[in-house]
Parts: sequence; structure tokens; C-alpha cells
Amino acid sequence: MTDTASTTKLSIVGAGSVGSSLAYASLIRGSANTVALYDLNTEKVDAEVLDLAHGSQYTQASQIIGGSDISCVAGSDIVVITAGARQKPGQSRLDLAGTNVDILGSLMPQLLEQAPNAIYMLVTNPCDVLTTAALKISGLPTHRVLSSGTVLDTSRLRWLVGNKIGISPRSVHAMMVGEHGDTEFALWSSATIGQSPLQDWKDSAGNRVFDREVLDSLEHEVMNSAYKVIQGKGATNYAIGVAGARVVEAILRDQKAVLPVSTLLNNYHGISDIALSVPSIVGRGGVERTLNFPMDDIEEAKLHKSAEALLSVQKSLGI
Ligand code: LAC
Repeated sequence: MTDTASTTKLSIVGAGSVGSSLAYASLIRGSANTVALYDLNTEKVDAEVLDLAHGSQYTQASQIIGGSDISCVAGSDIVVITAGARQKPGQSRLDLAGTNVDILGSLMPQLLEQAPNAIYMLVTNPCDVLTTAALKISGLPTHRVLSSGTVLDTSRLRWLVGNKIGISPRSVHAMMVGEHGDTEFALWSSATIGQSPLQDWKDSAGNRVFDREVLDSLEHEVMNSAYKVIQGKGATNYAIGVAGARVVEAILRDQKAVLPVSTLLNNYHGISDIALSVPSIVGRGGVERTLNFPMDDIEEAKLHKSAEALLSVQKSLGI
């Protein structure tokens, strides 16, 4: 008999490449006891659920369910929203705001009816703007609505830095923060490799590796990663799938993990009523606390530039 007290349910809205990849990653990692995949397209979602179920022997002991009846998300502990229009080659995430805010407006009330106590995580872009919109639509407390934000971008950054110096990405302690989009930036001033300041890292000849030009180039490469993948294959899905599963685990397992998720800020470095990714403690309550982090003047200015970019879109949509 499964201990219902520890039974966890993750529901994913949208059975497109992102939602299906997030379901796949969650099953392989065992992120939740039950994974439900919901989509309006019956044939598509039923096929995705079947395809995922066929691999059950080789994944963690999770149940995969789903379909086009929204009641499949009933009683979820966390609902991840991936449904909506996605970037076309060269299109920015902010360009999707109007369409996807409208989709969210019809989705949220229906989801809340089925899962009134869930944590809600936005993956659909622009995820920061949609986080703020979801809070306004739902009336939920701030801590229960977040976005994966720059968790994915941070993974990209750590991979690029690790690759450059032959170190595991897990030993690269650096974060991308701000908008999950064109104004995101790296917190280089506090970045370390293991316990050593990243900017002091030297190559075998004793030369500093990460000068300002290299740092700017790496940051730019992270910021443009999605465009590059979309140009080649039409969408990104694997990395956002596994990054989303990571945040789901931090919540469902109450890990109190520090992750750069996007949350509505309240007088954070003077920024309010905008959702941005900043290092936050993530646990069963969702975003349990945002953490202040040391920033140099360049980073402080970039954080405010991120906020201004989102504020102008929110104002244009009346959010
Ligand atoms: C990306 C999408 C998820 O950055 O915004 O790949």
C-alpha cells in the first residue's frame, strides 16, 4: 500500500516537446510518484502518455497518467504549465507575451478548480511575465507561483565554463539571474570554481582564463543558446525538461535548495511587482525565501535593466 502521506503528484500542462520532455525527465529521475500529462489534443497526449508508459520498466517507480480531460490534474501537488505559443527562429520570448497571457487567462481558473492547493510553475514563455500574470489571475500567495526562470540558463553557463577549463559543471558555482531572456546576466563577481574565485582561475601556463572579454563572451553565448538550438531543431526541450524536473524535486522533496527561480519581487534591490530570477530557497512551500547576493555595479545595473524590460511589457498588457 503506497504511503499516501508521501505520495506526490506532478501535473504537466501541455504535451508538446517541452511538456513531454519534462514528463520524461521526471519519470527517469523519479521526481514524483505520479506524473500526469494534460493537453487539449487528445490524440497527441494519449500517444505521449502511452509512449512514456511503455518505458516504465526502466524508469523510477512513478505512475504516468494523462489525457485531454483536465480532471487528470486533480489533486496535484505541483502543476507545471508548458502550454502556449513557442518562439519561432529569431523571435524573442517577450514577443510571445500577449498570446500566452491570454492562454493562461483561460487555463488558470480551470486548473485551480482541479488543483487548488498546488504550487504552480510557469515554463511557457515569457515565463517571468507569465508568473506575474498567473499571480494576478489566481490570487495565490506569491510563494506558490514561480517559474523555472534562469535555472536552465545557469545550467548552460556551468556547462560552458566547465567545458572551457575541463571541470565538472557541478563544481562551477555561478548563476545566471534576471529575466529568462535577452537581459539575463551572470553573477560573475561571486562565482567560484570549487572554493576558488572564478576570476582568479589560471591555465596550466599560469595565465588568467576569465578576463572581462571571456566573461562577456560566455554570458552572451548563454543568452543566445536558445536561439541557436531553435534555429537548428525548431525548439528547445531536453535541457528545459531536466531543469524543470530539478525544480519540481526541490519542491516535492522539500529540499530547501538554492536555485535561481523566477518569483515576484518585493523591494528587492528596490525592485517590486516584477518576477525575476534571483537565488531563492525552494522547498515544499514553493519559493520560501529570496536571497540577497553581493552584486557589483555592473550587475546591479543589469538587474534593473532586466526589470525595466519586463515592466514595459507588463504595462503594455495591463498586468
Ligand atoms: C529556453 C526556453 C525554455 O531557454 O526559453 O530553452
